[in-house]
Amino acid sequence: MANIFAPTDPTVTEREKRHMDTARRIAAEGMVLLENSGVLPMAADGRALAVFGSGVRHMVKGGTGSGDVNSRTVINVEQGLEDAGFTIATKPWLDRYDSACTENGARYMAQFKAVLQEQGWAGVNFALENPYRDPDVPEITAEDMACTDKALALYVIARTSGEGADRKLTGGDYYLSDREMDNLRTLTAYYDHTVVILNVGGVIDTAFLRQQKGIDAILLMSQPGCAAGYALADVLTGKVNPSGRLTATWAERYEDYPFAADFSHLSGNLDDSYYREGIYVGYRWFDSFGIRPAYPFGFGRSYTDFALDVMQTRISGQSIRVTVAVGNTGGRPGRETVQVYVSQPQGRLDKPCQVLAGFAKTGLLQPGQQETVEVTFAIPSLASYDEARAAYVLEQGVYFVRVGTHSRSTRIAAALELNEEVVTWQLRNKAVCDCAMDVARADPARFYTYPAEAAEKIAAPRLKIIPATISTHTAEYGAEAPLLHTEKTDTITLADVAAGRATLEELTAQLTVAEMAELTVGTERGGLGSVSTVGAASRSVPGAAGDTSTVLSESRGITNLVLADGPAGLRLSKVFVSDGQGNVIPGLGESSFGNLFELMGIPAAQRPENAVDHYQYCTAIPIATMLAQTWDMAAIASAGDLVGAEMEALGVDIWLAPGMNIHRNPLCGRNFEYYSEDPLLTGLCAAADTRGVQRHRGRGTAIKHFACNNQEDNRTHNNAHCTERALREIYLKGFEIAVKTAQPLTLMTSYNLVNGVHAANHRELLTDILRCEWGFTGLVMTDWGTTDPGQGQCKYGCSDAALCIRAGNDLTMPGAQADVERIAAAVGHELTLAELQACALRVLTLALLRYNAEK
Ligand code: BGC
Repeated sequence: MANIFAPTDPTVTEREKRHMDTARRIAAEGMVLLENSGVLPMAADGRALAVFGSGVRHMVKGGTGSGDVNSRTVINVEQGLEDAGFTIATKPWLDRYDSACTENGARYMAQFKAVLQEQGWAGVNFALENPYRDPDVPEITAEDMACTDKALALYVIARTSGEGADRKLTGGDYYLSDREMDNLRTLTAYYDHTVVILNVGGVIDTAFLRQQKGIDAILLMSQPGCAAGYALADVLTGKVNPSGRLTATWAERYEDYPFAADFSHLSGNLDDSYYREGIYVGYRWFDSFGIRPAYPFGFGRSYTDFALDVMQTRISGQSIRVTVAVGNTGGRPGRETVQVYVSQPQGRLDKPCQVLAGFAKTGLLQPGQQETVEVTFAIPSLASYDEARAAYVLEQGVYFVRVGTHSRSTRIAAALELNEEVVTWQLRNKAVCDCAMDVARADPARFYTYPAEAAEKIAAPRLKIIPATISTHTAEYGAEAPLLHTEKTDTITLADVAAGRATLEELTAQLTVAEMAELTVGTERGGLGSVSTVGAASRSVPGAAGDTSTVLSESRGITNLVLADGPAGLRLSKVFVSDGQGNVIPGLGESSFGNLFELMGIPAAQRPENAVDHYQYCTAIPIATMLAQTWDMAAIASAGDLVGAEMEALGVDIWLAPGMNIHRNPLCGRNFEYYSEDPLLTGLCAAADTRGVQRHRGRGTAIKHFACNNQEDNRTHNNAHCTERALREIYLKGFEIAVKTAQPLTLMTSYNLVNGVHAANHRELLTDILRCEWGFTGLVMTDWGTTDPGQGQCKYGCSDAALCIRAGNDLTMPGAQADVERIAAAVGHELTLAELQACALRVLTLALLRYNAEK
């Protein structure tokens, strides 16, 4: 009998209402105003408003796959505008698009059903590889516009994407479709003003939008979760002044991204990805190679204006403190984000034009009001990784501190002089590139500059960094795991450990290999051959992604832990059914993956007479990119707090989020689940999200996917070839920041290989770097099904459950009988008993934490 937490009363709870308000507030803060001729904000004055586009009714609240969240309601654009008092006069056009979507959806489902019935569970991949997409929009006719007010039209462009497939460089995805452009031509010819709203999870091409006369405003609405329509109306009407700032560079042309033609399917090689841009990712590339972006990193407009005044830059111990006065010089209340970048000196190591070093967002400033913010960062954070010395070094020279409101508006604020090189961290190389590869090296002659820069550099206040004040650390790599042993023969229970009568090490020492092999594998024993494994393998909380073992439940009182997805909220089934005795009846209610069972022709379970319905309505918060666009760590922590509260209420222990891979290329199908192209911003966001969740005792996050999960096509078998410098400075850095500043309870490895080794089996990444260098004390788990050999032949094979244990990857998820057997059989040959004990101990540590929290 499971412990069922979900209530049986379907009434909207106070918690849901509160959480909806929080989601709305954060969503409005995360929208980015890209253009505005003054047409926004607009009044809800009862005029017959023209609202067109794919995202009005068929708005995308967040992407697809495990990152989708099953909320009770979603306020779309239409509803949000109507609730705010607008009158939408384009219903016939919206109805036409509705019909097109219904027909298209039915065609797709018929095709999916045929594949499922032919291939069984394997057919699920069809949906991942060929995700459903709404059709192109209908034409806008003179008749559609005739009954609307000519002053203004809104046009909402929606895009979606999700795990398992990268985005396409085609109309209707990265580009506007021909019909979308025709429609916008029609609108701009007819209406006085046209406002374009982007309901997208990542970058799209904006060339047409920027060039077309008559488009007077562009608002990146992003994918805001269940309160989307409300939040959009708040921003359009000026109830909230947009203060979101971009967290990725929006290029003028796709080709401007580094090695753009080599990404994923475009290269024709899905087995190998060559990270030839090295450390030059995002704005580091654009700013260093003199490429003008359409909208730079950190950019966003406001309905008011701000003036920045750098008051002081000072050195305090090992930190730099920059004090900036921000004044609201416009006519509306608003918030501004001060961004501080640093240009490191060129030396033996090449450096990007500038890197983000810190930032601070003001509170709501009234017109005329001023606030002084302080941006602080550690001097060692400016060090670069030198592979030749296996060390982080601060090279000698001048470090210019720059202050601005986006990467292309920075002005020199100070010059920090360092007269000798300082090694900040002596390490060992742990993940060198596995192939010969030419890697980009920037030439300072091509760096972004502006006319006053040279003079500013001369005039800048000069501060001396005293080398002796910067400490040097040397990493220590642990010895082999110690063998745990106990003389105690009475069975030790978790209660004994909690009461201090025994230690967890002693309990672990009593376990058999068979028990530990069970403990270190999730409970889904059908392997990937079972349809329930696809992101919803939990037996105790329906729709959760998986459970840990109950093998020690009777003997030692250790119940399973429940793991559920994110990052845009808590992903569970909305409704499930129990027999009234605490037993879930599988196959009834609503699966978190829709009606898969029905489509596969699996007959629904009989509903017993005493059956009881349970409700798990969770809040869909804004996608991770949008959270990051707030640049407000308190807001992100409140999103985490909201999720933590729902975990507590519904019996979930670990949230499989936040996702924190770097936006390496805009076509990555999962960028929406990740924060940014910048590692500092990524790390700080993940830390804030984690702190919010972990405010709730016994609940934790799983930062994922460690590491280099930057491509979705062939994500399970792709080999990311990357220099160790780029790995450490770009792809691992965010994880490092999150681990060091927020200690997430768990971490999930990625599917792909990193320099020839499956991330799940990468001992150097998981033990040497993560635990020894960074001090991670939590549990590591695999991504779902990474040990599954799949069907086809692939160049790099799959990861291995025994090698997971050897690497320090404690939990193979969602589990398969083959994994258990493989681990048990490897002990004494490929694995030591001590290594298995170390992993089992970390699973038990989490169980103890939860046990103590519940007491
Ligand atoms: C995804 C993970 C997710 C897991 C469980 C995988 O397909 O890559 O991000 O947490 O499924 O649903």
